Amino acid sequence: STVTIPPPACMLRPLEAPLRYLFGPGPSNVPPRILAAGAKPIIGHMHSEMFEVMDDIKEGIRYAFQTQNNMTISMSGSGHAAMECAVFNTVEPGESVLVAINGIWGERVAEIAERSGAKVHRLVKAPGGYFSNKEIEQAMQKHKPVLFFLTHGESSAGLCHLVDGIGDICRKHNCLFLVDTVASLGAAPIFMDKQNIDILYTGSQKALNAPPGTAPISFNDRACHKMFNRKTKPLSYLFDMTYLSNYWGCDGKPARIYHHTGPVSGFFALRESLAILAEKGLEESWRKHKEIAAYLYKGLEDMGLKLFIPDRDLRLPSVTTIAIPDGYDWREMLAYIMKHHQMEMTGGLGPSVGMVMRVGLMGYNCEKFNADKALHALQDALKNCKKSKA
Ligand code: GLV
Repeated sequence: STVTIPPPACMLRPLEAPLRYLFGPGPSNVPPRILAAGAKPIIGHMHSEMFEVMDDIKEGIRYAFQTQNNMTISMSGSGHAAMECAVFNTVEPGESVLVAINGIWGERVAEIAERSGAKVHRLVKAPGGYFSNKEIEQAMQKHKPVLFFLTHGESSAGLCHLVDGIGDICRKHNCLFLVDTVASLGAAPIFMDKQNIDILYTGSQKALNAPPGTAPISFNDRACHKMFNRKTKPLSYLFDMTYLSNYWGCDGKPARIYHHTGPVSGFFALRESLAILAEKGLEESWRKHKEIAAYLYKGLEDMGLKLFIPDRDLRLPSVTTIAIPDGYDWREMLAYIMKHHQMEMTGGLGPSVGMVMRVGLMGYNCEKFNADKALHALQDALKNCKKSKA
């Protein structure tokens, strides 16, 4: 019984986590108050105090989503967990699903729905493309989906898609309306109940400024009716809403039964981030993101850069996309900015790779002095990364 594999040398060195300006599409910098909440002593995931924290989180999410839905919880996992939870629970094999794709997130949902055995119909536009309600309704008439997916905050393209009227179209065609607000929640207005959104989710690590790893999601009665009357069990045990609704005290049963161990520290941090949003107020948070984004647009245009989304009313206030300037290699610019300014900005993602550079100023980071820092770094990269003409 002798150990033959020695302790790895890397484990005998201290953890390194540099301080960086996280001015990409997320995670964003986490304010000290949220970091401190996440550093509180661990309690058991089934202790009464933990259930109180979870109940507070549900209230915080209802405010952030503007919903009264009982079935409101946080996933133990990132935005993708919420995305999979929504699809796995509401769609059965062989059912038709319609997905609007104008960036990476629709692509992901289409693949997840395919993996669940759905017949997936893709409504595809170039990154940043916009879907009219008429186009959506025509596709719905043709494909008769049980679920329609649209991204509100398309972070890969920098587009904030309007959702007005789409929920009504979905009702008319007996289809559930699923909306992704991972990159937009807290930065741009969304009203789950008023806009007839059946399933809405977000992530913790963007404008909410909590660490990555938790993801609020809410289902209305229509969505609950569909997911709790299915013939087959959902693909995932961990994401099965029958169990999760009990774990989160949403199923009206007197006792919560062990399902999985939730990320206790992650829930503490999420509660704090929702508390900050409640104290600040949604309107103020939306106003601030819009104001700082407008300031950033002006600065970018003043240095000769072109914004990728021409219609400023459709720009995502949390993540701004810049068209790659002629005569530059975007990878080189981003590496320069990281090296000389300790600042993360990113390139495109999925179909927008090679088309854009992305600057995110979210929540705590959404301040004029941070916009100035980002502009200064970009200016410096423009000066130092120009390719010499061969
Ligand atoms: C990830 O969430 C991204 O938009 O890059």
